[in-house]
Amino acid sequence: MSLPQISTLGSHKRQLAMKFLVLIWAVFLFFGLTASETETYNLIHSTILTKPGCESRCGDLIVPYPFGIGTNCSIGERFNIYCNKSVNPPKGSITEHDHSWIKLISDSTLRTSNLVAKRCSFPDGSWSTTNITSDYSRNFPYTISEVNKFTVIGCGSYAWLTSAAKNRTVSTGCMVFCSKPDEVAAAGDECSGNGCCESSIPQNINYYKTQVDSLTNSGNMSFAPCTYAFVGEENVFKFKGISDLRAIDRFDNSFKDRIEDTVPIVLDWAIGNQSCAQANKTNDFACRYANNTCVDSTREAGGYRCVCKQGYQGNPYLSPGCQDINECNNKEKFPCYGDCVNTIGSYTCECKSGYSGDAMVKDGCRRKPFNVLRLSIGLGLGIFTLLTGLFVLLLMVKQRKLIKLREQFFEQNGGVLLEEKLKTTGRSVMKIFQVEELKEATNNYAEDNILGKGGNGTVYKGTLPDTRLVAIKKSQRLDQGQRDQFINEMVILAQINHKNVVQLLGCCLETDVPMLAYEYVSNDTLYRHIHKTSGKGRLSWDSRLRIAHESAGALAFLHNDARMSVIHRDVKSTNILLDDNYTAKIADFGASRLVPLGHDEVTTLVQGTIGYLDPEYFHTGHLTDKSDVYSFGVVLVELLTGKKTIDPERGAQDTNLATHFLKAKKENRLLEILDQQVVKEATEEQLKATCDMVCRCLNQVGGSRPSMKDVAMELEILRKSSKQHPWISEQNYTEASSLMIESEEQNLYAVPLIANSDTFGEYSSSTMGMNEIMLHVHSPR
Ligand SMILES: *[C@@H]1O[C@H](CO)[C@@H](O)[C@H](O)[C@H]1NC(C)=O
Ligand SMILES: *[C@@H]1O[C@H](CO)[C@@H](O)[C@H](O)[C@H]1NC(C)=O
Ligand SMILES: *[C@@H]1O[C@H](CO)[C@@H](O)[C@H](O)[C@H]1NC(C)=O
Ligand SMILES: *[C@@H]1O[C@H](CO)[C@@H](O)[C@H](O)[C@H]1NC(C)=O
Ligand SMILES: *[C@@H]1O[C@H](CO)[C@@H](O)[C@H](O)[C@H]1NC(C)=O
Ligand SMILES: *[C@@H]1O[C@H](CO)[C@@H](O)[C@H](O)[C@H]1NC(C)=O
Ligand SMILES: *[C@@H]1O[C@H](CO)[C@@H](O)[C@H](O)[C@H]1NC(C)=O
Ligand SMILES: *[C@@H]1O[C@H](CO)[C@@H](O)[C@H](O)[C@H]1NC(C)=O
Ligand SMILES: *[C@@H]1O[C@H](CO)[C@@H](O)[C@H](O)[C@H]1NC(C)=O
Ligand SMILES: *[C@@H]1O[C@H](CO)[C@@H](O)[C@H](O)[C@H]1NC(C)=O
Ligand SMILES: *[C@@H]1O[C@H](CO)[C@@H](O)[C@H](O)[C@H]1NC(C)=O
Ligand SMILES: *[C@@H]1O[C@H](CO)[C@@H](O)[C@H](O)[C@H]1NC(C)=O
Repeated sequence: MSLPQISTLGSHKRQLAMKFLVLIWAVFLFFGLTASETETYNLIHSTILTKPGCESRCGDLIVPYPFGIGTNCSIGERFNIYCNKSVNPPKGSITEHDHSWIKLISDSTLRTSNLVAKRCSFPDGSWSTTNITSDYSRNFPYTISEVNKFTVIGCGSYAWLTSAAKNRTVSTGCMVFCSKPDEVAAAGDECSGNGCCESSIPQNINYYKTQVDSLTNSGNMSFAPCTYAFVGEENVFKFKGISDLRAIDRFDNSFKDRIEDTVPIVLDWAIGNQSCAQANKTNDFACRYANNTCVDSTREAGGYRCVCKQGYQGNPYLSPGCQDINECNNKEKFPCYGDCVNTIGSYTCECKSGYSGDAMVKDGCRRKPFNVLRLSIGLGLGIFTLLTGLFVLLLMVKQRKLIKLREQFFEQNGGVLLEEKLKTTGRSVMKIFQVEELKEATNNYAEDNILGKGGNGTVYKGTLPDTRLVAIKKSQRLDQGQRDQFINEMVILAQINHKNVVQLLGCCLETDVPMLAYEYVSNDTLYRHIHKTSGKGRLSWDSRLRIAHESAGALAFLHNDARMSVIHRDVKSTNILLDDNYTAKIADFGASRLVPLGHDEVTTLVQGTIGYLDPEYFHTGHLTDKSDVYSFGVVLVELLTGKKTIDPERGAQDTNLATHFLKAKKENRLLEILDQQVVKEATEEQLKATCDMVCRCLNQVGGSRPSMKDVAMELEILRKSSKQHPWISEQNYTEASSLMIESEEQNLYAVPLIANSDTFGEYSSSTMGMNEIMLHVHSPR
């Protein structure tokens, strides 16, 4: 019996159980080595039975080493087995000329045939007695096993066995009574004294003598004239009651022969008379081969045997010793209902994955309880890894797509065209921004940074890495035609470097719609300054004149630049921005048109702002630079009167400021409509000249209007005439403004200002412009 190493999910309980089993096994081994149940037959089943060249069989008998047939085949002379081949089939015996045939050799015993002692009475009153002496004491490795019983069959007789152990005579015996056949029948089949008796034999004997005698006056023996006595393996002979007694016959030996054939006597054997420890030191130690162990015999006579270690099999007395058992190939002896894996000296038997329990027991495996935690952890980890992978992949794909898209947009938005144009036109302050730069500058287009919003886009305030402030205009979609034009204008504006034109710093073409970055102009629109509700910080006449001059100069520059002619097309007070120093900056070229060289006019869809719109252009659709002059005239009127361009409160005829002004001029009551501050600060000559110029600008016929250049020149002259003003210095605006405020505080205006409630109503610009940037900027105190 071997205990496989249990490696199935060994719980503590199981380990305890195994320890207990091992303990029981050890106890068993110690006390019951000779017990027939524990007998093993590894020797006769080993693949190597004998020494090379030796016979392993004698008839049916297998003779394993250390036993042997013939010279030098056994471990020693004592283990020689004689094979009588003159009988058929051949039979083996312990000695030559023996009448006991060996029946079976096991790892620790040898079974040989019995000899039966017999005593019979004859009708004449005589007796015949056969005493038996079995002697294994002379140089044999045997002792008579305790599993043997001394059995007597007969009636009115007794038998006994004598032997010697340690020079002390030992004996045992029993009597059989059966005066009447009825008594035997009543006793049944039990060997309990009626026709049959049994007794244990003394321990540690290697010879015995059996004698039989009759009890005197034991009654009529005629139905059972003989008595038999024998030593034989326990439980092999089964007493069959009266029928066995009837079989006993004076002349018939068949019952005796039957017992001699079928009831063997069991002999224990061992090697030598030394213990393992003693023998281990000798040269001829039998257990010298691999993976075996030595077992001390329990016999008084001493001796040892070799056994294979657990998990090994083979003949431990012969080279190469014990071999590993492939337990998985022997499901009968090593049951396994799971996954069996052989290991050296052992094996593992585990339940199939997903099951737990004892795989060595049938139906010992149970489906594992659904382990939510483990499953979820595993699943979670798996999903996490998968998702991470997917996410990274997605990001990569997206990034690539984005880059491709940006390239596409860049191309689509004319980036290549622009780059080329910028290259050929040479020096430019314009820069092509990356989308990230602008995103960063506007703090990811934060709400806080919105300067203005229009139907066609949004303007954000941004800060470039070099701390420059910029206004970033994010347009709405453009169609392809608009795009080309947009690029064209951008190229031109990029090259316009005029101090009174809002500078285009750069653009970004990587987005669906292009984004523009302008110079940031801080101090609101001219419109706001003109129509301020509070009296503080209002523009002085000189400031107005200067702003008008600067604006006119810028427009003239645009109209007459050598390279091209740019018509602003949307000149109005909201498109003139003021910086910290109240310097005018023309903004919003969204509607501007380029007039190719050699042309005076282009025909376009009418665009502009009501109130500023050139009536001639409005009627004909022919756009010339004189349209800008008309619009500028309206701005001048605004500056002079401080009134709004469209104001229904003035009455139907005077709703339009230009008409209102011209009408007043005609009726010679201009002073009534002029701003009180202007009237107060300007000289009469200045006012007159200005108004005359305004009237020319507002001429219905474009051809009769002065050019922008002329207007600029006239305004310059007017400014110079006011140079004599003791307080205002052109070069010192800071001083001027402070002075201006002082003067305002001294002057309380009689003219009520129109509530500036409808700022948005003024806008009808075709594209969103810089004017809108200022809508959300807080007005100066
Ligand atoms: C048996 O062994 C002994 C010693 O090893 C040897 O002298 C003898 O010749 C052997 N006999 C046979 C038959 O081989
Ligand atoms: C063999 O067995 C027979 C019959 O029992 C016996 O007569 C004979 O002597 C035996 N021979 C030897 C060599 O033991
Ligand atoms: C058998 O034993 C009995 C009792 O000891 C004895 O009287 C008898 O002589 C013996 N017979 C033989 C044949 O030895
Ligand atoms: C055993 O008995 C024999 C003869 O009866 C004797 O020679 C021997 O010394 C005895 N042994 C012991 C240990 O008593
Ligand atoms: C014994 O019994 C048988 C019959 O069972 C009988 O024939 C015989 O005479 C008896 N013998 C004696 C001595 O009583
Ligand atoms: C052990 O056996 C040897 C021979 O094999 C013998 O010489 C010796 O006397 C025995 N010793 C005992 C204590 O029986
Ligand atoms: C004996 O057993 C050990 C492990 O227990 C093994 O490594 C070795 O190979 C075995 N020897 C033989 C000859 O099987
Ligand atoms: C023999 O003795 C040695 C050393 O004490 C030990 O390692 C070995 O296991 C022993 N052999 C057997 C078979 O018990
Ligand atoms: C936006 O632009 C389109 C095309 O340029 C124009 O038709 C539309 O009026 C604009 N909308 C606004 C609110 O400016
Ligand atoms: C406009 O400029 C004046 C004078 O430099 C300054 O006091 C005021 O704060 C400015 N307003 C804004 C909105 O920057
Ligand atoms: C305003 O004028 C001062 C002094 O001339 C100058 O240092 C400053 O840069 C000007 N500001 C702007 C926005 O041009
Ligand atoms: C501007 O005014 C300040 C203060 O009055 C003065 O110090 C400075 O020189 C003036 N600058 C110019 C260019 O006139």
